[in-house]
Amino acid sequence: MPNLPQTCFAGLMAETVTLFHVSDVHFGVEDHQAHHWFADAVAQERPNAVVCTGDVTQRATKRQFAAAAKWFGGLNVPLTIEPGNHDMPYYNLFERFRTPFRRFERLRDAVDAELEFADLAVVPLRTTVRAQRRFPWSDGVVKKKALAATVAELERMADDGRYKIVACHHPLMAGPPGSPNPTIGGDQAFAALARAGADVVLSGHVHDAFDLTFDVEGRALRMIGAGTLSTRLRSSRPSYNVLRYHPQKGLTVEHRTLAGA
Ligand SMILES: [Fe+2]
Repeated sequence: MPNLPQTCFAGLMAETVTLFHVSDVHFGVEDHQAHHWFADAVAQERPNAVVCTGDVTQRATKRQFAAAAKWFGGLNVPLTIEPGNHDMPYYNLFERFRTPFRRFERLRDAVDAELEFADLAVVPLRTTVRAQRRFPWSDGVVKKKALAATVAELERMADDGRYKIVACHHPLMAGPPGSPNPTIGGDQAFAALARAGADVVLSGHVHDAFDLTFDVEGRALRMIGAGTLSTRLRSSRPSYNVLRYHPQKGLTVEHRTLAGA
């Protein structure tokens, strides 16, 4: 198992912080070519960190998590990772209800590092739940407790001048204007994050990349989604995002798509 430090001050001296934003790598139905493509780019370009916004596995099996641990550990850059709805036990309902994130947290303990940058902070937000009233249970729910924890962290950093990135699995806002939001509590969470000083919300889940900016009470909050590196394609090829932040130039986003038919 790789021995990454628990706290990485990797970006303290860098003017530009480069993050590779990847999501929905889905071990079990992974696209091997896409995984190699991403890992090669990490090895060649050495981003300051990788941010993964969930769905590490397809069915949260021990074998799939073991493969994920090997792959993420092999990237050898600081990494922060959030669970997706596919990262809770699917077959073992007893475990799903009792300890839904135990397998994921073992992975996170092995590969996740707390990221500290002079000009940028990444704050997690949990949007996955073990069960909900509607079915299927794949869409997001932002619980009050989860939102309060993220808001408290943002407020703790309110005066430090850093660029604040929130990382979660489910998009918090619906895409087309007027369409229903599949994430329960998403609109309220998005507004609360804006008020607390967030600049960007990163997510995955929909397997297609997007980059949208919403106005919340006069404050712009950007919502950026990464695609997938799995075979579960929707309307686009496997992809990931490259985020570059500079205190004077702001944030630029590059969507990279794997070439092919
Ligand atoms: Fe997914």
